[in-house]
Amino acid sequence: MIDINREIEALDWSRAPKGLYEPIGYTLAAGGKRIRPTLALIASALLGGNEKDVLPAALALEVFHNFTLLHDDVMDKAEVRRGRPTVHVKWDENTAILSGDQMLIEAYKLLSDVPADKLPQVLKWFNEMATGICEGQQYDVDFEHQSQVTIDDYMMMIEKKTSVLLAYALKIGGYIAGASTAQLEALYQYGLHIGLAFQIQDDILDVYGDPKTFGKAIGGDICCNKKTLLLLTALETEDAESKAELLQWLSVTDRNEEKIAAVTALYNRLGVRKACEAVMETHTATALAQLDKLPQNSACEKLRELAEKLINRKS
Ligand code: IPE
Ligand code: IPE
Ligand code: MG
Ligand code: MG
Ligand code: MG
Repeated sequence: MIDINREIEALDWSRAPKGLYEPIGYTLAAGGKRIRPTLALIASALLGGNEKDVLPAALALEVFHNFTLLHDDVMDKAEVRRGRPTVHVKWDENTAILSGDQMLIEAYKLLSDVPADKLPQVLKWFNEMATGICEGQQYDVDFEHQSQVTIDDYMMMIEKKTSVLLAYALKIGGYIAGASTAQLEALYQYGLHIGLAFQIQDDILDVYGDPKTFGKAIGGDICCNKKTLLLLTALETEDAESKAELLQWLSVTDRNEEKIAAVTALYNRLGVRKACEAVMETHTATALAQLDKLPQNSACEKLRELAEKLINRKS
């Protein structure tokens, strides 16, 4: 299979003005798991496609993903990503906004090299995915300030902000390789459910991860009252004392370290991590069930392994 890291590193950002392009090179050189382009390439291999045909879309998906991270880190006031200062910290917020905008444009430029007969449909799905993410991100920030957020609201929000990108990566990869409608639907559903599990694991790692391996600061979600599955599960507790304590901490905005420690202790006491892991496992099982509808080859096996790996990941 194509070495996606090498392909991304081969993109050239040594252009003027430096203030616009350097942060793009900085972001893309910082690594990351490259899950989205990998999914597109595996979906193509699964259906016996030519990997060169899917490469432009795979690159576009990764550049697009990295664009969302630049803006997300401004929105979430996150200072570290992939073990390095975020763009808005290393440069400033204007840089994160404008270099992010340019990455969005670069993503579309890469996408335009998709085989011409496939491009109209791919473009339509790419746009649906991009709008989904913006809507998800808006719900994500809205929910920080809403007290009545349900677990259904949360699932809807993470489906948009995270799952659709994984799901469309697979669907686009499969489509370029000539998948049938039923196969595309199976790929999409697999992606949707690993995406839900993936975001729940991200929420868990935001509390329980090791900052060195996770590459992000721990406790950011707690500080800004993100309505994560951990928090929503904790709020469902029937232990009135714990619930009152948790609600008290939600009103605190100026004692971060203390708040992270106290809320984490409440999560521990209420056993919310286990409950969230159980939800994650349900979605992984639903994702795996989709694979029975697809050709049983080595690419399919890779998707099976990936689903398991993602929920046990530490980074
Ligand atoms: C981060 O995505 C944003 C989420 C959807 C949680 P990844 O965890 O895939 O980030 P990288 O690209 O591997 O750094
Ligand atoms: C991920 O949400 C969604 C997008 C970046 C679009 P998070 O805000 O949880 O992602 P991280 O934890 O910053 O990577
Ligand atoms: Mg966010
Ligand atoms: Mg974030
Ligand atoms: Mg997160």
